[in-house]
Amino acid sequence: MAKAWGGRFEGKTDPRVERFTESISFDARLAAVDITGSQAHARMQAKVGLLTQAECDAICATLETIGAEIARGEFPFRVELEDIHMHIESALISRLGDVGRKLHTGRSRNDQVATDLKLYIRGAIDQIDGLLADVQHAFVERSPNDLDIVIPGYTHLQRAQPVIAAHYWLAYCEKFQRDRERLADCRRRVNISPLGAAALAGTSLPIDRDYSAKLLGFTAPAANSLDVSSDRDFLIEFTSCLALIAAHLSTWAEEWILWCTTEFGYLKLPDAYTTGSSIMPQKRNPDVLELVRGKSARVMAAVPHLLTLVKGLPLAYNRDLQEDKIAVFDAVDTIVACLELAPAIIVGAALQTDRIAARLEEGFLDATTLMEYLIKKGVPMRTAHETVGKLVALCDGKKCRLAELSLSELQTACSQIQADVSQVLGAHNAVAALKSYGSGGRAAVAQQLELWKQKFA
Ligand code: ARG
Repeated sequence: MAKAWGGRFEGKTDPRVERFTESISFDARLAAVDITGSQAHARMQAKVGLLTQAECDAICATLETIGAEIARGEFPFRVELEDIHMHIESALISRLGDVGRKLHTGRSRNDQVATDLKLYIRGAIDQIDGLLADVQHAFVERSPNDLDIVIPGYTHLQRAQPVIAAHYWLAYCEKFQRDRERLADCRRRVNISPLGAAALAGTSLPIDRDYSAKLLGFTAPAANSLDVSSDRDFLIEFTSCLALIAAHLSTWAEEWILWCTTEFGYLKLPDAYTTGSSIMPQKRNPDVLELVRGKSARVMAAVPHLLTLVKGLPLAYNRDLQEDKIAVFDAVDTIVACLELAPAIIVGAALQTDRIAARLEEGFLDATTLMEYLIKKGVPMRTAHETVGKLVALCDGKKCRLAELSLSELQTACSQIQADVSQVLGAHNAVAALKSYGSGGRAAVAQQLELWKQKFA
């Protein structure tokens, strides 16, 4: 088979070189966007007179047929044809002859592959945004049921202050909201058209880049052809967004893995999302969450992969860039797989309220509210901190809780303490005392939940 670029060659390509340089084994997934891009390019050519309308129609219709064959798995791929762009163009030429040979006028595979990638990333952003919304929705959906459950909050994984359980769920909603905003912002920079930058310098042909950009839903054509030919910033930015999503998913997974242990016992995962052990009959392993945590490595790895790929490449296109796709596609597939599973786990997990309540008074979750009580009585903050620290030490020695100290013991530590102190002691009182905007108290959490519900109404 003659190469599309074979005019200046006499000798044949070594088959090992064909296998080494091919990308069809991983870029076939660009088929649909490649066809969309080519159809827009053909329509632009018809508009400026590089194709007749009849030629354009024949090209667009034949591309459609080829796309359908690829989608049905009826289209043979061969390494000699290198990549998806060559496969589609050569099929077009074999079906349309000279008319097919006109499609590549005024473009190069360099702007073509950049266009395909941008169309693909744009679609991936929209899909991932929808999946992130599903995850947020799952947290919001279970929150009303968890508005009256008080659970320990941690820093350093040490018991810190009590919060309403739904405060945890809405914390994840916030993180995923920032992820969605980052994706939307990234999308704006992705959505600039490379098409018509040609190989690196543009073209002497009378193309209309505004028109093809518009047909493809891009906001504008990119302004510098050298930049287009070399630019993979959009992939690095996009995978960075995915890496943060993966980090958030991994934090959630890790937290729930801890909460499922006998040591915590806060949470029971639905059977459908846990697995057993081949030797230990009692086991109920959170493998799905472990793999959400583990697969984050693959998503994060895309960022250094791409940075290393572009580092030190001179302008413009270099074949190194072909190695961008493997990392990007794997990151997309992995994040999509994690996000698709997450909502069912989020909605299906059951808080073990008895177990949580049974140990809620351990760990001095009310110490900070007691300190704030003293502050309200006029004690300077640092003095109040020290006073409560001493009371905690007293309790440690007596193996009791702050609420179990007598009023006279409390007053010995600080004369400003009065009988009303009982209203801030104990985890439920401590959480009820939390009033500030964005806090883990019931009213503040309910207020945020209302906003989230409106967003999803
Ligand atoms: N398969 C190539 C890639 O993914 C397409 C661009 C090839 N361009 C070239 N000038 N050889 O980067």
